[in-house]
Amino acid sequence: MKKLFILLCALAGFSTLQAQVMPKPKAESYGGGEFTISEKSCLVYDSSVRNVALYMLDYLPFKQILSSSKVMPGDVQLTVNRLLAEEEYRLTVNKQNIKIEGGSYAGVFNGVQTLLQLLPAKVYNKQSRFPLAVPCCKIDDSPKFSYRGFMLDVARTWIPADKVKRYIDLMSHLKLNKLHFHLTDDEGWRIEILSHPELAQVGGFRGGDSPVFPRYGKFYEKWGGYYTQQELREIVAYAAQRNIEVIPEVDMPGHSKALGAIRSDILCNYTPDKSKTNGLEIRNVWCAAKESNYALIDDIIREMSTIFTSDYIHIGGDEVNMSQWRKCPDCQRLKVEKGLENEKQIEDYFIARTTAILAKYGKKPAVWNEGIEGGLLPKTTRVHGWESIKKCLAATSKGYPTIIMPGHYFYFDMKQSSSEPGHNWAAIFDAKKVLSFDFAKEGFTAEHLKNVAGIEASFFSEIYIAHNPETSHYLDYMLFPRLIALSEVAWSHSRRSWEEFYSALKGKHYARMDAMGVTYRLETPKVTYANGTITATTADGSTLYYTDTRTGKTSRYNKPIATSAPYAYEFVSRKGSGESKKTGSKEYYARLKPAVTVTSSIPCSSKTPMTNAAKYTNSIVRTTRAAKAGDWIEYRFAEPVSCREIEAMTGHIHLRRCNLLKGCVEVSYDGVSFVPAAEFTVAGATIKPTAPVRAVRIVAKSNSDAEDQIVIQSLKIK
Ligand code: ACM
Ligand code: ZN
Repeated sequence: MKKLFILLCALAGFSTLQAQVMPKPKAESYGGGEFTISEKSCLVYDSSVRNVALYMLDYLPFKQILSSSKVMPGDVQLTVNRLLAEEEYRLTVNKQNIKIEGGSYAGVFNGVQTLLQLLPAKVYNKQSRFPLAVPCCKIDDSPKFSYRGFMLDVARTWIPADKVKRYIDLMSHLKLNKLHFHLTDDEGWRIEILSHPELAQVGGFRGGDSPVFPRYGKFYEKWGGYYTQQELREIVAYAAQRNIEVIPEVDMPGHSKALGAIRSDILCNYTPDKSKTNGLEIRNVWCAAKESNYALIDDIIREMSTIFTSDYIHIGGDEVNMSQWRKCPDCQRLKVEKGLENEKQIEDYFIARTTAILAKYGKKPAVWNEGIEGGLLPKTTRVHGWESIKKCLAATSKGYPTIIMPGHYFYFDMKQSSSEPGHNWAAIFDAKKVLSFDFAKEGFTAEHLKNVAGIEASFFSEIYIAHNPETSHYLDYMLFPRLIALSEVAWSHSRRSWEEFYSALKGKHYARMDAMGVTYRLETPKVTYANGTITATTADGSTLYYTDTRTGKTSRYNKPIATSAPYAYEFVSRKGSGESKKTGSKEYYARLKPAVTVTSSIPCSSKTPMTNAAKYTNSIVRTTRAAKAGDWIEYRFAEPVSCREIEAMTGHIHLRRCNLLKGCVEVSYDGVSFVPAAEFTVAGATIKPTAPVRAVRIVAKSNSDAEDQIVIQSLKIK
């Protein structure tokens, strides 16, 4: 019978991949023919899934919706079938009806997401009219993992509530079901606490007259925001309607500089040496010995537990700078009194105290993987393994329910190729690498897998702020299509190969994202230069444009370009709302690397010698103090350098936090006297020399706000 059905499908010209549903369902078959949702179609629903029916109305303009009514030909039915698992669904489309059965609200919602993907892509712009055709099919589907998460950091860069809701929608279309909401960090406190209103009212803003230091972007302006408890309740309800649980994170005991700037009483009991930081406070760890701190945590958790419905609250635990506890007489006394062996066990003590507070309010703790390293925490603690596969394996081996999210696969703040924006400390990777994640190859055995609670991607937002978050598409570009690949890894029992995935992306999913208004990343065009001509190609039917960077003029690319200046041509491809990275031929990326000696008035750390800045790589130099007005960095060439331009920057590449804010770049053509060449834009400047250059100098015009160091980079010379 099954063979006959497959044969009939083949004869009818339908492939089982026809609908290109993403993530890939467990079993799907398309029987030929279609059902048409018309003006007369009624949406019939079980009362327990009324909120799914209401949700559907955003996308599909049913004139009639009825609870628990008799289903007539032409109707669409949403029903709970308790024989199915909670998130499982069965979608049946025949010529008379559409029926979505789910094991619970969640299962029905998942089935609706698949139905939306079977409809014309334009349904996602929420302006469709009936009739709309759906191919006849039967889809049986359920998730591989019950936890399919995405972490959004709204602490480093403020992201207003409506934008968060948009990402909740985009997650739900991919059947992701957990939003890990990173609400506090060194650079911001975004959750209103009514008993301590100053935490958000002050800590939600940095720069300007805020005591919170503007560590990333927008250095001069007071900028930010926070969510009121009412807004957070709305976010939680909005997410719940979309089968997404919001798991809030208050990152403690480290990553708490913003809080410490408002409540210095949470910090450890010693006077820090601020001589290297131009007077700036850089302590960021809660003192573990102060009872008043646990009273504050009680206030925070008590209020959070009235807002968030999740069983878990994430309490951080990552990257605690334990030197602060080492210097604190109170923490050292605590260590002796409680018989703690080391500072990691001080962290255990802090987390155990916080866990007891969580328990009082009916909540359980989730922590980053460092949180369990003291070895004392109960196995009910959920662990987010981010640092490495090794840390994920360690947590699962010890019996902790573990969320797998190693940075080199799932941190979507990482760059997607070497010449794109983003971090690179974990890896540089694109959607193909995300899709390639393989538990067996990474060393997970059946025993480890028993404790794998799920998979999560994350976006930390330090760099986002430098991309003008009010207007830019940077976040979409970093997330899509990587988040789609993540959903495939977390949902699909037998996931697509990259070729199948890319084919579904190009075939149907780009158009869905166009209608959603997602500004996704297209694959990078190939650009080559040979025999005096530049040729550019794409493999996805997108349209190519090029810019002559000498004139700034942009044109559509129709045919190879004859030129003797290939370095000047920058290409981009666009399709719908997608855009590729800006790219060029090998010559566009070429840089001169003349021998150079780098010196500075600021001493550098022995771990990062000044010669690093002479290598023309991403190697950096860290100084041992922040800069003061008048400090300088000099690059002296062995031979005069003829070039078109020199980019002289401070700060880390793509993360210009350890930078000079105000300064200028000077140039010397005779090797003795320097003349001003450019004032800083951000953290440095690009100069266009008028003669062969013997030396370049960066001069600080103000004391830097760069905490206890600045970063010196190599020049970029074209
Ligand atoms: C982290 O990335 N510090 C969890
Ligand atoms: Zn202390």
